[in-house]
Amino acid sequence: MRALETNVAEVVEAYRRQGWAVLAHGIDPLLLADLRATVSRICGMVRPEVVHEEDGETVRALHGCHRFDDVCERLVRHPLFVDLAEAAVGDSVYVYQFKINIKSPREGKRWPWHQDFAFWAVEDGMPEPDAVNIAINLDEVHERNGPLTVLTGSHRLGLVGPPAGSGSAPSTGWQDHVSANLTHSVDDAVVRELAAEHPPTRLLGPAGTISLFHPSIVHSSSDNLSDDRRTMLFITYNSVRNAPRHVTRPSFLVDPDTTAVTRLGA
Ligand code: SIN
Ligand code: MN
Repeated sequence: MRALETNVAEVVEAYRRQGWAVLAHGIDPLLLADLRATVSRICGMVRPEVVHEEDGETVRALHGCHRFDDVCERLVRHPLFVDLAEAAVGDSVYVYQFKINIKSPREGKRWPWHQDFAFWAVEDGMPEPDAVNIAINLDEVHERNGPLTVLTGSHRLGLVGPPAGSGSAPSTGWQDHVSANLTHSVDDAVVRELAAEHPPTRLLGPAGTISLFHPSIVHSSSDNLSDDRRTMLFITYNSVRNAPRHVTRPSFLVDPDTTAVTRLGA
């Protein structure tokens, strides 16, 4: 990875202003190949971390892979990612969540409008949105294979979903947090209103592209309407001082190990 060519301060400035940022340089092609091979390998496993679409066959996501796979374990300790996460959060960080979302050609389904922090606050008791998502495109992401779409600047609005007691109580099962029928979603009417001041932006880019987005930014992605797979890997780093207070979800969704991550090679 061309860490030396990344101006972390510049990236984090854009991230704070917009709620998202895309880096000018992607991951090393060898690392990309390694990660893509890892995805194929894990997709063939039968284990609870492998989640399917409603058809029960198409793989939708792989969760918590940093806890059982060496390539993913090393990835979360990559110095560039740790540098970015620490600068974005302003503190030492640990890995709160790790997931690989796979949208199969024609079969991969949407992620409705939501804010990640709504899940983390309500389900896990995370005190503040002092965390950051780092995303890596493992396939090219284009207009038609279900790109991530963010409402620029919406990370400054706080939680915009239904108020407590009308849908923001903890839900009955974690499956509702990883399916195309999400709990804690944001209504389309609210999104239409917000979009006037917070323009929807699609985070597109070739395989290898690295981006950051804020826990409170309103975002979604549509069904994959194309013949091209859309695979994205997401690492959520949380401040070591912001560990959630009442975790009941499985360890592959919320990592119980809140020890600060150590940089590879350090
Ligand atoms: C996606 O994979 O498009 C959505 C990921 C997310 O909402 O965190
Ligand atoms: Mn999300």
